[in-house]
Amino acid sequence: MKLLVQCDSPVSWQTYLHDPASITMEGILVFNKHLLFLLTVIVLFVAWILFSTVYYFTEFNNKFNSKFVHSNVLEIIWTSVPAIILLILSTPSFTLLYAMDEIAEPELSLKILGHQWFWSYEISEFNSCQKDNQSLKYVCYMMVLDGLPKTKQGYFRLLETNKRVILPTNTHLRLLVSAADVLHSWTIPSFGLKVDACPGRLNQLNLFIKRVGVFFGQCSEICGVNHGFMPIVIVSLPTIQFHNYVMAKLELVQD
Ligand code: CUA
Repeated sequence: MKLLVQCDSPVSWQTYLHDPASITMEGILVFNKHLLFLLTVIVLFVAWILFSTVYYFTEFNNKFNSKFVHSNVLEIIWTSVPAIILLILSTPSFTLLYAMDEIAEPELSLKILGHQWFWSYEISEFNSCQKDNQSLKYVCYMMVLDGLPKTKQGYFRLLETNKRVILPTNTHLRLLVSAADVLHSWTIPSFGLKVDACPGRLNQLNLFIKRVGVFFGQCSEICGVNHGFMPIVIVSLPTIQFHNYVMAKLELVQD
């Protein structure tokens, strides 16, 4: 049986956006469709005007010039119609923009630090109950082709990391992004997220993952020679499995 395959990594000949895994990305996709519809209508209308002008108004078809010069009505129409179109565009655009910035009360914070050229992560929520040196820390380097597992579609070349960051689904997450050396940019297309990692500055994102999956992204800010070799991989698990994972990882006794 073939299951519904979600697109969470780039595929060959891909022309469209990734499948959404967060509310943000769903909003972006809906807005994108809204824009595409308006764009199609405008392009068709302009093309129709252009081609009919070129086709009908040749000197063979019009022996005498038109005396038509000014029209107040026409000017009002061709000024107000684009203005109305811009209004139709701006309303959902601003709504989406502000909705994406809204930070809900987060249950968990993931600290993300960009380095030349790898990402490091930390979840500090469980620090108070951990033993000695244990904590949820990940240092993620790109995997070279040698050790890569082959999938049906081929290799996740330049995308797979040696460790994958594990996050829970259906939980309000806060991502705190910064860098240790130069500018980087943390991106996951399926989440609709992209934020600059600036040294000496803390950027904040909110994330609500809606489904289980493995999500791939890459650094999106030129950060040096190995810029293309610092991918991002996030695995999302159901909340209860995430809980078990944390317990096992930190060797905590479940009560
Ligand atoms: Cu880090 Cu580009």
